[in-house]
Amino acid sequence: MSAKIIDGKEISAFIKQQAAGRAAACAAAERAPCLAVILVGDDPASQVYVRNKHRACEACGITSLQFALPADTAQAELLALIDRLNNDAGVDGILCQLPLPSHLNEDAVTDAIAPEKDVDGFHPVNVGKMLAGKDCFLPCTPAGVIEMLKYEKIPIAGKHAVVIGRSNIVGKPAAALLLRENATVTVCHSRTADLKETVKTADIVVAAVGRPCFVTADMLKPGCAVIDVGINRLADGALAGDVDFAAAKEIAGAITPVPGGVGPMTIAMLMMNTVKSAEARLGMRKG
Ligand code: GUN
Repeated sequence: MSAKIIDGKEISAFIKQQAAGRAAACAAAERAPCLAVILVGDDPASQVYVRNKHRACEACGITSLQFALPADTAQAELLALIDRLNNDAGVDGILCQLPLPSHLNEDAVTDAIAPEKDVDGFHPVNVGKMLAGKDCFLPCTPAGVIEMLKYEKIPIAGKHAVVIGRSNIVGKPAAALLLRENATVTVCHSRTADLKETVKTADIVVAAVGRPCFVTADMLKPGCAVIDVGINRLADGALAGDVDFAAAKEIAGAITPVPGGVGPMTIAMLMMNTVKSAEARLGMRKG
Protein backbone atom coordinates (compact mmCIF):
# COMPACT_ATOMS: atom_id res chain seq x y z
CA MET A 1 0.00 0.00 0.00
CA SER A 2 1.23 3.43 -0.86
CA ALA A 3 1.95 5.90 1.95
CA LYS A 4 -0.20 8.87 2.86
CA ILE A 5 1.53 11.87 1.27
CA ILE A 6 1.75 14.62 3.90
CA ASP A 7 0.83 17.90 2.24
CA GLY A 8 3.04 20.67 3.64
CA LYS A 9 1.25 23.28 1.56
CA GLU A 10 -2.09 22.39 3.13
CA ILE A 11 -0.71 22.33 6.69
CA SER A 12 1.28 25.55 6.24
CA ALA A 13 -1.82 27.27 4.82
CA PHE A 14 -3.73 26.19 7.93
CA ILE A 15 -1.01 27.61 10.24
CA LYS A 16 -0.75 30.85 8.24
CA GLN A 17 -4.52 31.26 8.40
CA GLN A 18 -4.35 31.01 12.20
CA ALA A 19 -1.42 33.46 12.26
CA ALA A 20 -3.39 35.88 10.06
CA GLY A 21 -6.39 35.76 12.41
CA ARG A 22 -4.22 36.49 15.44
CA ALA A 23 -2.30 39.20 13.52
CA ALA A 24 -5.62 40.88 12.72
CA ALA A 25 -6.51 40.82 16.42
CA CYS A 26 -3.16 42.52 17.21
CA ALA A 27 -3.86 45.13 14.53
CA ALA A 28 -7.35 45.75 15.91
CA ALA A 29 -6.00 46.08 19.47
CA GLU A 30 -2.99 48.29 18.71
CA ARG A 31 -0.83 47.49 15.68
CA ALA A 32 0.01 44.67 13.30
CA PRO A 33 2.91 42.34 14.25
CA CYS A 34 6.20 43.44 12.68
CA LEU A 35 9.08 41.29 11.41
CA ALA A 36 12.47 42.82 10.49
CA VAL A 37 14.44 40.73 8.00
CA ILE A 38 18.12 41.48 7.37
CA LEU A 39 19.85 40.18 4.26
CA VAL A 40 23.57 40.82 3.83
CA GLY A 41 25.01 40.35 0.33
CA ASP A 42 23.42 38.84 -2.76
CA ASP A 43 23.32 35.07 -2.26
CA PRO A 44 20.60 33.99 -4.75
CA ALA A 45 19.07 31.29 -2.49
CA SER A 46 18.92 33.71 0.43
CA GLN A 47 17.25 36.31 -1.79
CA VAL A 48 14.53 33.79 -2.68
CA TYR A 49 14.02 32.82 0.99
CA VAL A 50 13.80 36.47 2.06
CA ARG A 51 11.33 37.28 -0.73
CA ASN A 52 9.16 34.34 0.30
CA LYS A 53 9.22 35.51 3.93
CA HIS A 54 8.14 39.00 2.81
CA ARG A 55 5.27 37.55 0.76
CA ALA A 56 4.11 35.39 3.66
CA CYS A 57 4.13 38.46 5.94
CA GLU A 58 1.97 40.33 3.44
CA ALA A 59 -0.47 37.40 3.21
CA CYS A 60 -0.74 37.16 7.02
CA GLY A 61 -1.13 40.89 7.74
CA ILE A 62 2.33 41.14 9.32
CA THR A 63 4.38 44.27 8.67
CA SER A 64 7.66 43.29 7.03
CA LEU A 65 10.72 45.53 7.27
CA GLN A 66 13.45 44.59 4.81
CA PHE A 67 17.09 45.55 5.30
CA ALA A 68 19.26 44.63 2.30
CA LEU A 69 22.87 45.40 3.20
CA PRO A 70 25.85 45.20 0.82
CA ALA A 71 28.13 42.15 0.98
CA ASP A 72 30.99 44.24 2.41
CA THR A 73 28.95 45.48 5.40
CA ALA A 74 31.14 45.70 8.50
CA GLN A 75 30.33 43.60 11.56
CA ALA A 76 29.92 46.75 13.69
CA GLU A 77 27.44 48.20 11.20
CA LEU A 78 25.32 45.02 11.25
CA LEU A 79 25.42 44.87 15.06
CA ALA A 80 24.38 48.55 15.22
CA LEU A 81 21.33 47.82 13.05
CA ILE A 82 20.39 44.84 15.26
CA ASP A 83 20.81 47.01 18.35
CA ARG A 84 18.48 49.64 16.87
CA LEU A 85 15.85 46.98 16.05
CA ASN A 86 16.24 45.40 19.52
CA ASN A 87 15.33 48.76 21.03
CA ASP A 88 12.48 49.55 18.64
CA ALA A 89 9.21 48.80 20.49
CA GLY A 90 7.44 48.55 17.13
CA VAL A 91 9.51 45.52 16.03
CA ASP A 92 8.46 42.05 17.25
CA GLY A 93 10.80 39.76 15.35
CA ILE A 94 14.35 40.13 14.01
CA LEU A 95 15.81 37.66 11.57
CA CYS A 96 19.24 37.83 9.95
CA GLN A 97 19.25 35.49 6.95
CA LEU A 98 22.09 32.94 7.07
CA PRO A 99 24.64 32.21 5.74
CA LEU A 100 26.42 35.54 6.16
CA PRO A 101 29.43 36.61 4.05
CA SER A 102 32.57 34.95 5.46
CA HIS A 103 34.04 38.09 7.05
CA LEU A 104 31.04 38.31 9.40
CA ASN A 105 30.75 36.32 12.62
CA GLU A 106 27.42 34.44 12.56
CA ASP A 107 27.58 33.50 16.23
CA ALA A 108 28.10 37.10 17.30
CA VAL A 109 25.18 38.20 15.11
CA THR A 110 22.89 35.46 16.47
CA ASP A 111 23.90 36.36 20.03
CA ALA A 112 23.17 40.06 19.41
CA ILE A 113 19.49 39.56 18.61
CA ALA A 114 17.38 40.08 21.73
CA PRO A 115 16.07 36.63 22.80
CA GLU A 116 12.51 38.02 23.09
CA LYS A 117 12.66 39.03 19.39
CA ASP A 118 14.57 35.95 18.17
CA VAL A 119 11.77 34.45 16.05
CA ASP A 120 14.30 32.05 14.44
CA GLY A 121 14.88 30.46 17.87
CA PHE A 122 18.66 30.45 17.26
CA HIS A 123 19.80 32.51 20.28
CA PRO A 124 21.60 30.40 22.94
CA VAL A 125 19.04 31.55 25.54
CA ASN A 126 16.20 30.14 23.43
CA VAL A 127 18.16 26.97 22.62
CA GLY A 128 18.71 26.43 26.36
CA LYS A 129 15.07 27.12 27.20
CA MET A 130 13.95 24.70 24.49
CA LEU A 131 16.14 21.95 25.96
CA ALA A 132 14.79 22.71 29.44
CA GLY A 133 11.20 22.55 28.16
CA LYS A 134 10.53 26.23 28.93
CA ASP A 135 8.32 28.57 26.95
CA CYS A 136 10.45 30.15 24.19
CA PHE A 137 10.68 30.68 20.44
CA LEU A 138 11.18 27.29 18.83
CA PRO A 139 13.32 27.04 15.67
CA CYS A 140 10.94 27.13 12.71
CA THR A 141 11.90 24.04 10.69
CA PRO A 142 11.98 21.53 13.57
CA ALA A 143 8.82 23.09 15.05
CA GLY A 144 7.23 22.62 11.63
CA VAL A 145 8.19 18.93 11.67
CA ILE A 146 6.37 18.42 14.99
CA GLU A 147 3.37 20.42 13.73
CA MET A 148 3.10 18.15 10.67
CA LEU A 149 3.15 14.99 12.79
CA LYS A 150 0.46 16.42 15.09
CA TYR A 151 -1.70 17.63 12.20
CA GLU A 152 -1.59 14.13 10.71
CA LYS A 153 -2.33 12.63 14.15
CA ILE A 154 0.81 10.51 13.96
CA PRO A 155 1.56 9.38 17.53
CA ILE A 156 4.90 10.59 18.92
CA ALA A 157 4.83 9.68 22.63
CA GLY A 158 6.46 6.32 23.30
CA LYS A 159 7.48 5.94 19.67
CA HIS A 160 11.04 5.52 18.42
CA ALA A 161 12.06 8.59 16.46
CA VAL A 162 15.32 8.49 14.52
CA VAL A 163 16.78 11.83 13.43
CA ILE A 164 19.44 11.58 10.75
CA GLY A 165 21.69 14.65 10.89
CA ARG A 166 22.88 16.74 13.84
CA SER A 167 22.97 20.33 12.60
CA ASN A 168 22.25 23.12 15.05
CA ILE A 169 19.41 24.40 12.85
CA VAL A 170 17.54 21.12 12.24
CA GLY A 171 18.90 17.80 13.58
CA LYS A 172 19.69 18.73 17.19
CA PRO A 173 16.57 20.83 17.80
CA ALA A 174 14.34 18.25 16.03
CA ALA A 175 15.69 15.61 18.44
CA ALA A 176 15.04 17.90 21.42
CA LEU A 177 11.46 18.63 20.31
CA LEU A 178 10.67 14.96 19.67
CA LEU A 179 12.02 14.18 23.14
CA ARG A 180 9.82 16.93 24.53
CA GLU A 181 6.88 15.11 22.91
CA ASN A 182 7.94 11.96 24.78
CA ALA A 183 9.42 10.04 21.85
CA THR A 184 12.41 7.78 22.42
CA VAL A 185 14.96 9.56 20.27
CA THR A 186 18.07 8.36 18.46
CA VAL A 187 20.29 10.81 16.56
CA CYS A 188 22.29 9.31 13.69
CA HIS A 189 25.11 11.09 11.85
CA SER A 190 28.08 10.51 9.58
CA ARG A 191 29.92 8.44 12.23
CA THR A 192 26.96 6.21 13.13
CA ALA A 193 28.11 2.60 12.79
CA ASP A 194 24.82 0.82 12.15
CA LEU A 195 22.69 3.40 10.38
CA LYS A 196 20.49 1.02 8.42
CA GLU A 197 19.72 -1.22 11.43
CA THR A 198 18.91 1.81 13.58
CA VAL A 199 16.64 3.50 11.04
CA LYS A 200 14.90 0.15 10.49
CA THR A 201 13.59 0.28 14.08
CA ALA A 202 12.17 3.82 13.72
CA ASP A 203 8.47 4.64 13.89
CA ILE A 204 9.34 8.20 12.85
CA VAL A 205 12.30 9.05 10.60
CA VAL A 206 13.43 12.67 10.28
CA ALA A 207 15.99 13.02 7.48
CA ALA A 208 18.15 16.15 7.64
CA VAL A 209 21.44 15.17 6.03
CA GLY A 210 21.63 17.26 2.88
CA ARG A 211 22.32 14.33 0.50
CA PRO A 212 19.82 13.19 -2.13
CA CYS A 213 18.57 9.58 -1.82
CA PHE A 214 20.53 9.09 1.44
CA VAL A 215 17.57 7.28 2.99
CA THR A 216 16.57 4.29 0.90
CA ALA A 217 13.41 2.17 1.11
CA ASP A 218 15.27 -0.87 2.50
CA MET A 219 16.16 1.16 5.64
CA LEU A 220 12.52 1.75 6.56
CA LYS A 221 10.18 -0.16 8.84
CA PRO A 222 6.89 -0.78 7.01
CA GLY A 223 4.29 1.78 8.04
CA CYS A 224 6.72 4.31 9.55
CA ALA A 225 6.36 8.09 9.15
CA VAL A 226 9.08 9.75 7.09
CA ILE A 227 9.71 13.49 7.38
CA ASP A 228 12.19 14.66 4.75
CA VAL A 229 13.85 17.97 5.65
CA GLY A 230 16.43 17.79 2.85
CA ILE A 231 16.40 20.29 0.00
CA ASN A 232 18.99 19.24 -2.57
CA ARG A 233 19.45 20.75 -6.01
CA LEU A 234 20.16 17.97 -8.55
CA ALA A 235 22.37 18.33 -11.62
CA ASP A 236 19.26 18.74 -13.83
CA GLY A 237 18.06 21.62 -11.65
CA ALA A 238 15.28 19.63 -9.97
CA LEU A 239 14.80 19.66 -6.18
CA ALA A 240 15.09 16.43 -4.21
CA GLY A 241 14.95 15.57 -0.53
CA ASP A 242 17.23 13.22 1.43
CA VAL A 243 14.86 10.28 0.93
CA ASP A 244 14.37 8.09 -2.14
CA PHE A 245 10.75 9.21 -2.26
CA ALA A 246 9.48 6.98 -5.10
CA ALA A 247 10.60 3.77 -3.39
CA ALA A 248 10.07 4.92 0.22
CA LYS A 249 6.42 5.79 -0.32
CA GLU A 250 5.73 2.12 -1.06
CA ILE A 251 7.04 1.12 2.39
CA ALA A 252 6.24 4.07 4.70
CA GLY A 253 2.82 4.73 6.20
CA ALA A 254 3.14 8.49 5.71
CA ILE A 255 5.80 10.59 3.98
CA THR A 256 6.53 14.22 3.10
CA PRO A 257 7.38 15.08 -0.51
CA VAL A 258 10.11 17.52 -1.64
CA PRO A 259 9.13 20.13 -2.66
CA GLY A 260 5.80 20.73 -0.93
CA GLY A 261 6.60 19.02 2.37
CA VAL A 262 8.57 20.53 5.24
CA GLY A 263 9.74 23.55 3.16
CA PRO A 264 6.51 25.59 3.37
CA MET A 265 6.23 24.82 7.11
CA THR A 266 9.34 26.82 8.02
CA ILE A 267 7.85 30.12 6.90
CA ALA A 268 4.45 29.32 8.43
CA MET A 269 6.10 28.72 11.82
CA LEU A 270 8.07 31.97 11.41
CA MET A 271 4.79 33.82 10.90
CA MET A 272 3.38 32.17 14.02
CA ASN A 273 6.48 33.04 16.09
CA THR A 274 6.22 36.67 14.97
CA VAL A 275 2.53 36.83 15.93
CA LYS A 276 3.26 35.25 19.34
CA SER A 277 6.02 37.80 19.91
CA ALA A 278 3.64 40.66 19.07
CA GLU A 279 0.97 39.22 21.37
CA ALA A 280 3.50 39.11 24.22
CA ARG A 281 4.64 42.69 23.51
CA LEU A 282 1.07 43.97 23.26
CA GLY A 283 0.02 42.15 26.43
CA MET A 284 -2.34 39.77 24.64
CA ARG A 285 -0.33 36.56 24.84
CA LYS A 286 -2.32 33.39 24.24
CA GLY A 287 0.66 31.05 24.62
N1 GUN B 1 19.08 30.15 6.34
C1 GUN B 1 18.51 28.96 6.04
N2 GUN B 1 17.48 28.71 6.87
C2 GUN B 1 17.38 29.78 7.69
C3 GUN B 1 16.49 30.11 8.75
O1 GUN B 1 15.57 29.37 9.11
N3 GUN B 1 16.72 31.30 9.35
C4 GUN B 1 17.72 32.13 8.99
N4 GUN B 1 17.87 33.27 9.66
N5 GUN B 1 18.58 31.84 8.01
C5 GUN B 1 18.39 30.68 7.37
